Formats: sequence, C-alpha cells, structure tokens
Amino acid sequence: MILNVEKIRKDFPIYKFNSGLVYLDNAASTLKPKVVIDMVDHYYSHLGVNVHRGVYGLSYEATDLYEEARKKVARFLNAGEDEVIFTRGTTTSLNIVADHYLDILKPGDEIITSELEHHSSFLPWLNVSKKTGATLKFVELDDEGKITIENFKKVLSGNTKVVALTYISNVMGHLVPVEEIVKLSKEKGAITVVDAAQAAPHIKIDVKTLGCDFLAFSGHKTLGPTGIGVLYARRELIEALEPTEFGGEMVQEVTKSGATYKQGPFKFEAGTPIISGAIGLGKALEYIESIGLNKIHDHIKRLHDYTISKLEGLEDIEIYNKDSDTGLITFNIKGIHPHDAASIFDKNGVCLRAGHHCAQLITKWLNQIATLRVSFYIYNDYEDCNIFIKSVIETRDYFKKF
Ligand code: ALA
Repeated sequence: MILNVEKIRKDFPIYKFNSGLVYLDNAASTLKPKVVIDMVDHYYSHLGVNVHRGVYGLSYEATDLYEEARKKVARFLNAGEDEVIFTRGTTTSLNIVADHYLDILKPGDEIITSELEHHSSFLPWLNVSKKTGATLKFVELDDEGKITIENFKKVLSGNTKVVALTYISNVMGHLVPVEEIVKLSKEKGAITVVDAAQAAPHIKIDVKTLGCDFLAFSGHKTLGPTGIGVLYARRELIEALEPTEFGGEMVQEVTKSGATYKQGPFKFEAGTPIISGAIGLGKALEYIESIGLNKIHDHIKRLHDYTISKLEGLEDIEIYNKDSDTGLITFNIKGIHPHDAASIFDKNGVCLRAGHHCAQLITKWLNQIATLRVSFYIYNDYEDCNIFIKSVIETRDYFKKF
C-alpha cells in the first residue's frame, strides 16, 4: 500500500460509527474527514453570521474565512481567486454556463458533446440546443469508449461555438485529452467547458495549462460538504457573463429602472452564500493536498489493478473499463440485475453504485440498462477489495440458483 489506510481512517469519524463499512461508492460522494466537519462546526459554533455585510468583528472573521476558502480553491486549480465562483455543485455550475449561451447561440451553431457525459454536462446543452436551434454534435467514442483527438477533429468545425466535455467519465473513468481538445477548439474560436467532477479528487488540475474557459467540480466528491461546488471561469469571460440569479450582495447600485453588478465572482453569488460549505471545501482541498494527488493516484491504481486481476479470474463477470484512470470499475454479473446484486453487497456492508449513474447515454452505448460500479479512494485497502470480491462470488452463486 502506498497510503497508511489505518492512519487515514482515524481521520474519518464514519469508520468509528460503522464497523465493517466497505465504502466503494466514492465516485458518487466521498466520506468526510474530521478536519472538514470541525471546520463547518467551527463556523456554526463560533461565528454563524453572514459574510460581506456585517459591520462587526464576527462578520469580518466569517468573511475572512469565506474568502480564504476561495483562495484555497484558486490554489488547487491554479486559477486567480477572482475566477472562482462558489455554487451549489457541478450541476449548478454547468447550468450557469449553458444558460448564458441561450441568448447567444443560433441555428447553424454547433455544440460538441459526447455520450460519455454525465446528465449535468449533457442536459443543459440539450436544452440550449432545443431553445436556440444550435446543433449538438457527438464525438464518436472508440471501441473502448474513449474520446480520441482523431474523432474529436471529425466534429470540430468553423461552426463549433461550444465544446462541453467531461474530463473523466463517471462510468468509464478514462482521462479525456482535454488539453489538446481545448487547444484545437480555441483555434476555431469555440469556448470550452470542462466537467471536472470526477477529475478533481484524482488528478492535479491546472486551468492555466488546460487553457479552458470554464471548469466545474463539486465539494462532496472531494471530501468536502454537500451543497457546495465551484465554477472556474476565465477572467475575461467572468466579466462578460450575465448573472443568472439576482438578489442581495451581487449589485453595486440599484435604481427603479436598472442595476449595475459587482465584478468577478460576486456577481454570481446572489443572496447569502454557502458559507459553511465553502469553508469546509477549503479545508477538504487542503487535506487532499496534504496527502498528495500523486500518492492518491498510485494508491488507487494498486487497489484497482488488484481488484481487476481477481475479477478477471471469475466466470460470468463482464467488465466494461479494465484500464480506468481513476480506478473505478464498471461491471455486471451476467443475468443479474444490478439492483438485485446491490442488495447482497449491502448485506455484506459493501456500498457500491447500481444503475445508470446519471449517465444514460454511455450506459446505452455499453448496451446495458444498468451497471454496477465500484470506485476507490484514500481510505480503501486490499481487505475492502477482498470483501468486495467475495460478495461478487456470493451474489453470482446466490442468483444462479433461481
Ligand atoms: N454523479 C454521481 C455518480 O456518478 C452521483 O454516482
């Protein structure tokens, strides 16, 4: 093992309260370390007041913590702090961007998407396409379900206005060659939107190197609280974008007939922001950085390779992504519906995901109605893999009897 899992588990109170927990649903949500819980608790116990408004000490302190969290996110992404908008999550972030293009795109314009997209990266653009008459173009996936530059080039044209793709699919786990895609898209003058919900907990994201215009990720998949997420928007675009929500603290001046808005991220954070969530997220990213994304990647790769080697030796198991970059394994047990299978896993304390994973297009591409998915993170060890494999065998053999 690369990581000291025994030590790491001590940081996660859930292991104290759930003996025998085998948590393998990290692509859906990660567990929360005590430092994050304590940070949220600190805000509510010691401060609990609003930010950017109060002319008193407690509010200044809360504001400092909130803005400090923005700096931590900016560092995590190598972005400017004025390029980081706090949102409710990846879904909200991606909808903010897509909504902006409702007024801009027109018939003849093209939006590049793919069957790999999570619904939050696909449906906002489907809506834009229906309302504006712009055409959705799908990058053809290769035999392994990957996006290749060659296939991307086939759909990129002078009509491409938006390229909205995932960095890492939540079903296949492969790394999409986003840097090269962004470069090619820019040459055509298209804007690029990256869904980094699955990438942020696993790989170092550098928005400057990527060169993308927008990038989104969620707090709860990066050891942070639920209900908080991030939209990175390149400085020039953040200025150009119209807000989609209106209310307190996002305006400079209001008259009976108009309003001027604040600059930068504040324009997009109408009303009382998600203060505890942002502060908790800042702490979570620090915790991830203290372990190191390279070490996290190596650790997960070992668990992944070990589990794949065991699964491959079993009869009646269909694996759809043997070489995922984030260690998630999507599979089925022949003849058994994933929801039936999941109930046996649950009995053994194994939490995994069963269904279409909010990504029906790729599930259909796999010719399945649903799949099972395990996804590892820093607190998983080989024993978790062994219990999982035993449960696969038990499930397969139990349902074979009928
Ligand atoms: N999008 C999350 C998943 O893949 C919920 O499970």
